[in-house]
Amino acid sequence: MPIDAHNDNVTSLPSLLYISRDGEEIVGRAAADTFIERNVDREVLVRAVSLGVHIDGYVGGEMDNEYGGSVRKDGNDMTEAVTARAMVEINAPGRLFQSLKTSLRMREFTGTEVFGIQFQIEQLVATILKRIKSTADEAAGRSVETAVFGRPVRFSLRPEEDQAAQRRLETAARLAGFKDISFFYEPVAACVDYAIRTDQKQRLMVVDIGGGTFDVCIMEFGGASTAASRLSESRILSVSGIPVAGDAIDHEIVRSKIFPCLGSRARYGPAQLRLPQFVFNSVVDWQNLYKLNTEETINWLIAAEASSEQGDRIRALRTLIQRNCGYPLAREVEAAKRRLSDVTETEITFERTDIHLHERLERQEFSHIIEHMIERMKESLIEAERAAGIKPDSLDLVLTTGGTSLIPAVRQMLGERYGHERLQHRDTFTSVAAGLAVVAQYA
Ligand SMILES: Nc1ncnc2c1ncn2[C@@H]1O[C@H](COP(=O)(O)OP(=O)(O)OP(=O)(O)O)[C@@H](O)[C@H]1O
Ligand SMILES: [Mg+2]
Repeated sequence: MPIDAHNDNVTSLPSLLYISRDGEEIVGRAAADTFIERNVDREVLVRAVSLGVHIDGYVGGEMDNEYGGSVRKDGNDMTEAVTARAMVEINAPGRLFQSLKTSLRMREFTGTEVFGIQFQIEQLVATILKRIKSTADEAAGRSVETAVFGRPVRFSLRPEEDQAAQRRLETAARLAGFKDISFFYEPVAACVDYAIRTDQKQRLMVVDIGGGTFDVCIMEFGGASTAASRLSESRILSVSGIPVAGDAIDHEIVRSKIFPCLGSRARYGPAQLRLPQFVFNSVVDWQNLYKLNTEETINWLIAAEASSEQGDRIRALRTLIQRNCGYPLAREVEAAKRRLSDVTETEITFERTDIHLHERLERQEFSHIIEHMIERMKESLIEAERAAGIKPDSLDLVLTTGGTSLIPAVRQMLGERYGHERLQHRDTFTSVAAGLAVVAQYA
């Protein structure tokens, strides 16, 4: 049943939300299209308003990266105390929310103001869930009130954040009208989907690498003849996961390949200073890029431009900020990353007035850039093997799913560890969602 007519795959709904100034809520692919149409390439005006209080502002989804070094700490969140001041975009036609699932685990991000109205994170998520519910209601011909929600093994490495994320998701589900709500690990769901189709006794690993999380599950099947007994005779040996996947990989490409094109290595002024890190953090965290659009920052960038040998790069950065182009740039980077799963080299191209970005990226260099993340994925796999008490060569099959598992460097790591002949790829949407449906039916 179609759920998003604007999406390439109409049976899946990207979790994107656009709220316009007059309160219109647009969900799914159309949210991104509307944002690009209305918000991008338009001069942004911001004003600093005094809040009169001390708040914790969400700054970015990941830790800073020190320039030059690829050593990364864990992918946890970073917050910054913001005292009594906030930047408000005064002429924005609307706001786009992406990666709300990631925001669920950020306890500091309780919600946000959208044109004077305070929205809780649960409300934002509920708006998306309502579309899912109404589609289900229509398909069933009645109000669907029972739902099994898939969840990553770890929303966050911090237990309190992990629990908070599930609680918030449950509240959002209630707001959307669901009453009987349960949760199930997504990689286990993918295992279940496979389990009910096979009458062979075997040991399976599912690795699901999506946008926000890396998840793994090891399961053993009894090889019974009926679907119900296949389920009752299967055993979950272990699960593991980390909140590092496709989005974090995109950010890493931006850091390595895009930052230098925007002047991260430029020196300016008589003291030959470098531009501060927070400016570049906002390029990665494009949803907050508009906040840099203050007279003070822009004037300072103009001065830096005039006094730097890399003035054209700093101008590109300033234009990116002033024209609110962070999101289309992020999309271009993601598209280039996806192309590298099929070809061995590509170009990241971004052309706008005063921005002329053409960066070649070879697959080999890309693999190198994300090496430390692949290492962390491997550690999570080892944790799952240990918890299950098994050796890598005792698995019969390793099923990969999720967009990020298509990256050649990821497949290479999995192939080296488990044997290329044991790797098989499955479509994410069908395996996780179908597994959850089976769980809902038999549980
Ligand atoms: N061909 C490809 N090569 C590399 N990466 C890809 C490819 N296709 C999609 N991706 C990446 O996969 C991710 C999306 O995967 P998927 O749809 O499985 O995630 P999701 O289920 O929405 O996220 P999550 O499971 O973390 O909640 C994105 O980061 C996207 O850029
Ligand atoms: Mg997924």
